[in-house]
Amino acid sequence: MKATALAPANIAFIKYWGKQDNELRLPLNSSISMNLSGAYTITTVEFSPKVTADSVSLLGGEFSQEETARVIRGLDRIRKHSGRMDRARVVTKNTFPKGAGSAASASGFAALTLSGFAALGTAFTERELTVFARMGSGSACRSIPDGYVEWRQGKTSDDSYAVSLYPNTHWDLRDLLVIVDSRMKKISTTEGMETVTTSPFISARLRAIPSRLDRCKKALQKKDICALGEVIEEDCLDMHHVMQTQVPPLTYWNDTTRMIIEATQVWRKMGIPVYFTIDAGPNVHLICEGKNEQLVIEKLKALSGIERVIQNSPAKGAHLIQEHLF
Ligand code: DP6
Repeated sequence: MKATALAPANIAFIKYWGKQDNELRLPLNSSISMNLSGAYTITTVEFSPKVTADSVSLLGGEFSQEETARVIRGLDRIRKHSGRMDRARVVTKNTFPKGAGSAASASGFAALTLSGFAALGTAFTERELTVFARMGSGSACRSIPDGYVEWRQGKTSDDSYAVSLYPNTHWDLRDLLVIVDSRMKKISTTEGMETVTTSPFISARLRAIPSRLDRCKKALQKKDICALGEVIEEDCLDMHHVMQTQVPPLTYWNDTTRMIIEATQVWRKMGIPVYFTIDAGPNVHLICEGKNEQLVIEKLKALSGIERVIQNSPAKGAHLIQEHLF
């Protein structure tokens, strides 16, 4: 059987950086994110007894050997769970650059997990899907449920899962994903996290996170953009502080990244409630309310060094669609 899934990327408001278990991808802390409407992956999977080897292709791009092997390990986990042996054909496409700190692995493994389970006709719950997506890439578990999502840390594989805090219709936020460099990042998130404990600041980060999670949830509940923005920026800067003090240090920002951070601070002084957050790459996510989106886009037009801007509203989680890629 063939199945196709669409899964959004997500932007973390409170970030995941570091694992308790590398194999299972159990995180050092819980995290909170919003699904993105304009940055997503579509994946079609077909298992068949006629296929002799798994094949994986990316439309408009190429997977490295390592990435292909990671996808096949994902298929193996789904096959094992379903008690099936058939090999698969996988075709996938992204609406945004892969590996540039805009979380293609999140939407990618969320789409692979849902399409894989559906293609095998295996029964599943949303929680199970989040657990399997997590084993492909931690942040992928947050792309399964709708809208605003919490990934609960957990101590075992079964209790490290994601849930929707609010549907995508809860609050009309925007994430303007400002692409300043669409090339593949040099150090992957998986590799970067392996040395997280070499930073002397990781323990302070982990102590600070529970109260940030609370503040973030309260701000989401009250739809308070200033309270949300403050905690988002605090956590982003804290994560990058940890990254930059790891051995070897991880510096993902470039001059345009820094320029946008400074511009955001100036725009705020001018009365525009817009806040930045940055994942493991140089691209900047600007968070604001829908009513201020055009104002921020106008401001961005005056800056140089920007390749393009992807406009995102809060999106539903991963879901099946009927338009197959092959
Ligand atoms: C900085 O989920 O890509 O974007 O589990 O090793 O695949 P792996 O890592 P990944 O890490 C995302 C890190 C981040 C922050 C976040 O999205 O929470």
